[in-house]
Amino acid sequence: MNHFHYLNGELHAESVAISRIAARVGTPFYCYSTATLARHYTVFRDALAAAGLDATVCFACKANPNIAVIRTLAELGAGADVVSEGELRQALAAGVPPARIVFSGVGKTRHELEFAVAKGILQINVESEPELRLLSEVAAARGIRMPVSIRVNPDVDAGTHAKITTGKKENKFGIEWTRAREVYGLAAGLPGIEVVGVACHIGSQLTELEPFRDAFVRVRDLVAMLRADGIQIRRLDLGGGLGVPYEHESPPSPAAYAEVIRATLGDLNCRIIVEPGRLLVGNAGILVSKVIYVKEGATRTFLIVDAAMNDLMRPALYDAHHAIFPVAEPAAGSARIEVDVVGPVCETGDTFAKQRSLPPMRAGDLLVFGTAGAYGAAMSSTYNTRPLIPEVLVKDDDFAVVRARPSYEDMLALESLPDWFGHEG
Ligand code: LLP
Repeated sequence: MNHFHYLNGELHAESVAISRIAARVGTPFYCYSTATLARHYTVFRDALAAAGLDATVCFACKANPNIAVIRTLAELGAGADVVSEGELRQALAAGVPPARIVFSGVGKTRHELEFAVAKGILQINVESEPELRLLSEVAAARGIRMPVSIRVNPDVDAGTHAKITTGKKENKFGIEWTRAREVYGLAAGLPGIEVVGVACHIGSQLTELEPFRDAFVRVRDLVAMLRADGIQIRRLDLGGGLGVPYEHESPPSPAAYAEVIRATLGDLNCRIIVEPGRLLVGNAGILVSKVIYVKEGATRTFLIVDAAMNDLMRPALYDAHHAIFPVAEPAAGSARIEVDVVGPVCETGDTFAKQRSLPPMRAGDLLVFGTAGAYGAAMSSTYNTRPLIPEVLVKDDDFAVVRARPSYEDMLALESLPDWFGHEG
């Protein structure tokens, strides 16, 4: 369910015509809907509460770190899951209280750990023994014990794309499940560490509940062992991963997901932390682009649009499907043709869709890529020296640019010629 819909023959975000935004900010741009963000967050939060869970929803900022997006969720009570000092700074700038921020990630640097400890965040999810030792040193130097969950790798197959599965033993994430007890023993003896919980995240865009259930049962077994060892576990961070429909998928509902948590972990007397990313922001965003040329190739028609793989990498990187539809509502029963939708970047991978059935479109027409709110802008780059594209947030009948398009001067200002080239003029 989202708030992008046709009204008077034209696509709107809430009550704002997409063409109005396009006229103001130019294409391409990302457009997010406040009402959709709010709906996704409240449905998810309420599902956890209805299952009787004491749960904190920490939005995985990596999916969309724009501070206006984070702020929208934070005002509803969301915390943040961050994976770098940059994301931590974004969450703080968005107004997320440090007591609702968790820091995950497999390669945090000393500087990042020092920054997080100094900010007094809720907890750090530690992924290796060297990280545990370094964090202990950093925290002890400040005279504190840092609350820590250790991320365990439960060795379950999430059944998702190979590039976004994280919970198999051959993946780089977490502490191998079979060694977890020993590493908790080490953590319990370190001066700068306060062990508070267990963390686990098995992958992204999961469309079945079974992998979650398998992982949570392993977490449950581990908690029993740790408690038997005298280690107090009072928080369980279950990661993110619940999928969204891009095409024909029908992922489990938040209520069904919450029920799996309740059934497997609900009686352990632990505060539950969840880190959804895609689920909260995926359908709350679209990428708006314009047709530059319609090119008749030897065997197919190409719709060459002004967005490219650098703006939305998912199709090139994961063969991901994004719905594509025109901003002008097609008449009922109007003709359709099969086209390849491609960007201007100089490689064949810059293809958004092959042989997609769309109403005939002409140069200058606006079109939209759906479900682009998660891992869209967040993963964009300036490949081909294309400026990062603006992000716009809509609220009712209002909209604001929440990330400006940099100028070419801004981009070039970061580069310089070394002295050895000499100075001209
Ligand atoms: N927590 C941790 C520790 C994670 O690594 C991730 C995602 C999440 C939470 C949030 O997962 P979500 O709820 O969004 O599935 N770029 C890829 C997705 C990469 C996900 C990485 N980790 C894509 O575009 O599909």
